[in-house]
Amino acid sequence: MADRVLSHEEAKAFYDRFGRKQDLQRIYEDPAIEVLLRHAAFESASAVVELGCGTGRLAARLLRERFPSHATYLGLDISRTMVELTRARLEPWADRAKVQLTEGSPGLPVADRACDRFLSTYVLDLLSEEEIRLTLLEARRVLAPGGLLCLASLTFGQTLPSRLVCRIWTTVHSLRPQLVGGCSPLRLEAFTGSDWRVLHREVRCTFGICTEVLIAS
Ligand SMILES: C[S@@+](CC[C@H](N)C(=O)[O-])C[C@H]1O[C@@H](n2cnc3c(N)ncnc32)[C@H](O)[C@@H]1O
Repeated sequence: MADRVLSHEEAKAFYDRFGRKQDLQRIYEDPAIEVLLRHAAFESASAVVELGCGTGRLAARLLRERFPSHATYLGLDISRTMVELTRARLEPWADRAKVQLTEGSPGLPVADRACDRFLSTYVLDLLSEEEIRLTLLEARRVLAPGGLLCLASLTFGQTLPSRLVCRIWTTVHSLRPQLVGGCSPLRLEAFTGSDWRVLHREVRCTFGICTEVLIAS
């Protein structure tokens, strides 16, 4: 884990500025997202909550290609720029897709057992260990029985080249976290403990940048 994480104010300021540029990360994110899509059974989802929806790129794809026509979506993000980008992108599904600005605290504005998918990609790697634990407790609270936790996060290198990339990444992060969007590698599996049953876990590395995909119930 990183020695220092961005404060909520710093994360908000960074992503308010970064905005649409987030989609450039697709180069290394998309192969891992494909893994997540293969295992998260979104075709049978009925209510999906996404923490840190970014520009809404994944949400739009899910609404267009995967969700049943009755499925609802709630995107949450700390950045006003990201919330506006996602709202604009999800306009065609405005009747069932909502986006909400948050303060960044782990508490989710969602009722107990109100959703059947809790989705978060490249967000937990921005948070402190304590916030990750609290976020997973919240995910457990809002998921209905049988619901799925669907996560993707930066993780540690697996091979010599990816370990080298990871070393460079973490060095940059320790000097100035904003240069890597505040994200630093972590091991999601270390946080799921006995509360979750891991249904699928896979690490996918692209250009030496590794992502851990984890689906649990
Ligand atoms: C690295 S981006 C990932 C965006 C998107 N999920 C993706 O995979 O492209 C991190 C996103 O999480 C949001 N974020 C950061 N900290 C947050 C927090 N504490 N609560 C909610 N959103 C947060 C940022 O504004 C940004 O949109």
